[in-house]
Amino acid sequence: MDFLDALAKRARTIDAALDRYLPPENADPQVIHAAMRYSVFAGGKRIRPALTLAAADAVGGNPEHVLPAACAIELIHTYSLIHDDLPAMDNDDLRRGKPTNHKVFGEDIAILAGDALFTHALHLLVLGGRETGPDPVLLLTVVEEVTQACGSSGLIGGQVMDLLAEGKPVSEEDLVRIHRAKTGALFRVGVRAGAILSGAGLEQLASLTTYAENFGLAFQITDDILDVTGDEAKIGKLVGSDARNRKSTYATLFGIGEARAKADRACSDALAALDELGREADFLRHAVQFVAAREY
Ligand code: IPE
Ligand code: IPE
Ligand code: MG
Ligand code: MG
Ligand code: MG
Repeated sequence: MDFLDALAKRARTIDAALDRYLPPENADPQVIHAAMRYSVFAGGKRIRPALTLAAADAVGGNPEHVLPAACAIELIHTYSLIHDDLPAMDNDDLRRGKPTNHKVFGEDIAILAGDALFTHALHLLVLGGRETGPDPVLLLTVVEEVTQACGSSGLIGGQVMDLLAEGKPVSEEDLVRIHRAKTGALFRVGVRAGAILSGAGLEQLASLTTYAENFGLAFQITDDILDVTGDEAKIGKLVGSDARNRKSTYATLFGIGEARAKADRACSDALAALDELGREADFLRHAVQFVAAREY
């Protein structure tokens, strides 16, 4: 499998669905819909929603049935990026190769665009459930898990801990906790949502959960590395954001070499978690190789 081709194919499916699911740019009030669409279509890798579709495949489900859930995960991710870039947070000017949302639309609209993307994601989850008709109990489980993963014990909690740790020494345990929450939680729930809605058995779900937890950790470790070593043209962000904000990262705590070794270990653990799954899980396996070597 050529993973980049396979990812691009899934990304096209996801982009077309996002375009259908988002309110049109000319719907009133136009500025908020323009701001939402600006960041959603600025050029993200779509790795999270691709994993949601791949999790459906991995358990013998139909990826088309989890497309609304996959799009909901990408909307939540994009909202988190808009807010993460705000002056009160990481204060970044470039995202996905373009000026950040607040640079174009102002902080007020950027905050509201993030809020609206999150709200729309929940709307889409429920609407998608109606359209593709999963068992309502499974849909409720997914809504429960997504809202839990994004709240103050998950993504938001991680972002809070990340801010509180600025300029302070942290232990590896602290950093793992931050990374698992701010980044890992969304990967974890994205994969679980694809599997749950596809009727995964408990053992399959446990394997995929371990996979996603390790994948998410490796993804944020490599993000920390790219903030130091990355090529701005490739990552679509300005390097050195973490140093400027005096963030505690794997790069600062361990140095690039050891951070890479820790990312590799998390990648091995992610791969090992898929041992009991068949060829249907190959996209998930190739995604791990992509993360281990990623330059963007
Ligand atoms: C960036 O995520 C933020 C992190 C949690 C590390 P991605 O690297 O997936 O960003 P996009 O979606 O491709 O822009
Ligand atoms: C982002 O972590 C985590 C979330 C957006 C939830 P970073 O602050 O490291 O992400 P980038 O480097 O700005 O993409
Ligand atoms: Mg941040
Ligand atoms: Mg940031
Ligand atoms: Mg970063």
